[in-house]
Amino acid sequence: MANDPLTLMSAPAAPPLTSGPTPTPTPAPATAPLKIGPVVVDPPILQAPMAGYTNYAYRQVVREFGGAGLLATEMIAARSATWLETNRGEHPDRLWGVRDEPRPLAVQMWDNDPDNLARVGRRLAKDFGVSVVDLNFGCPVRQVTVKAQSGSWLLRDPDRVGAIVARVVEACDGVPVTAKIRLGCSDDCRTAIEVAQRIEEAGASCLTVHGRVASQFFSGDADWSAIAAVKRAVSRMPVVGNGDIDSAATAVARLRESGVDGVMIAREALARPWIFAQTAALLRGDPLPPDPSLAEQKELVLHHYDLVCQRFGIERGTLLMRKFACSYAQGLAGAREFRGRVSRVETREAFLEVMRVHFPSAQAGQPGTG
Ligand SMILES: Cc1cc2nc3c(=O)[nH]c(=O)nc-3n(C[C@H](O)[C@H](O)[C@H](O)COP(=O)(O)O)c2cc1C
Repeated sequence: MANDPLTLMSAPAAPPLTSGPTPTPTPAPATAPLKIGPVVVDPPILQAPMAGYTNYAYRQVVREFGGAGLLATEMIAARSATWLETNRGEHPDRLWGVRDEPRPLAVQMWDNDPDNLARVGRRLAKDFGVSVVDLNFGCPVRQVTVKAQSGSWLLRDPDRVGAIVARVVEACDGVPVTAKIRLGCSDDCRTAIEVAQRIEEAGASCLTVHGRVASQFFSGDADWSAIAAVKRAVSRMPVVGNGDIDSAATAVARLRESGVDGVMIAREALARPWIFAQTAALLRGDPLPPDPSLAEQKELVLHHYDLVCQRFGIERGTLLMRKFACSYAQGLAGAREFRGRVSRVETREAFLEVMRVHFPSAQAGQPGTG
């Protein structure tokens, strides 16, 4: 039984060879929970906000698989959130589920007006009881940058970002405020370090850094050495790294190698919402759980479709589900054919028929099973 791991583990430790101080054991790689103010994010794996995608139905799917320590809504525009002032009962689609769903939950908002953001942030914190109020300083989309001078546009002015964060922190009165940034506006405006320092001084409880500049949109690779440099440039505030995590193994490697306090996953989790549970298992030292079978994945798409239709009705729900169905098929053999068909469906019957006949039945590179 000499090789029995239990025997080896329970064997008494060998006495030290010298009588000097007992050497400190090398600590296990850090997988400490991330603390965002009083909110414990355990495991430190975050589901990214994605406009148009991370609604309540999607978050529900992520929650059912488990493994994400913090979920985030789609971003909301603070300037158009006047409904918060006028109507206490109803809320727009982007806050669907937020009042009642499990915590912890982050709601993200964007604007460049500190008063708007403070007003909406306070309402989210106090009336909606959200766990975290997140501020978007990373969006590269023209309507938000050029037209509204918000999102990543603000990265050119670190002091202004700091002033916004300070105002929202004050308004949220103890509910943690976080920020999400890119590395800068463009290659000649890489301000992430200065912005991060202003955000920390302003009292934010956490910062997420997507390792690209805004002008890249999604081109090139996320620069994890630049993310690590931001982490080193702040002292108290935890930093979450984000960009191009495409597997549980990559998530664990990024967490351990870059020195960040947590990792955030966006696009890959649209295709594989079980990636959080797989990452959590690896962090615990458990074996990698297998992907769901293709039959289970098909069931998952139908389940997601039901959740969407419950909220939006069949007609709108079917149209909305097209893009989710396309994401789920990513990387599967026959995905192109499936996408072509599912992105044209207009009725429930058509959706179910395309799912029945064309949802991929084999992983890419493997022969189909019919
Ligand atoms: C469709 C889509 C919508 C997004 N919407 C938001 C958003 O509302 N707020 C935000 O901070 N980032 C948004 N992002 C950026 C992601 O949160 C994330 O930073 C980026 O996709 C990089 O992570 P990834 O490589 O894991 O996808 C969005 C990304 C995508 C693909």
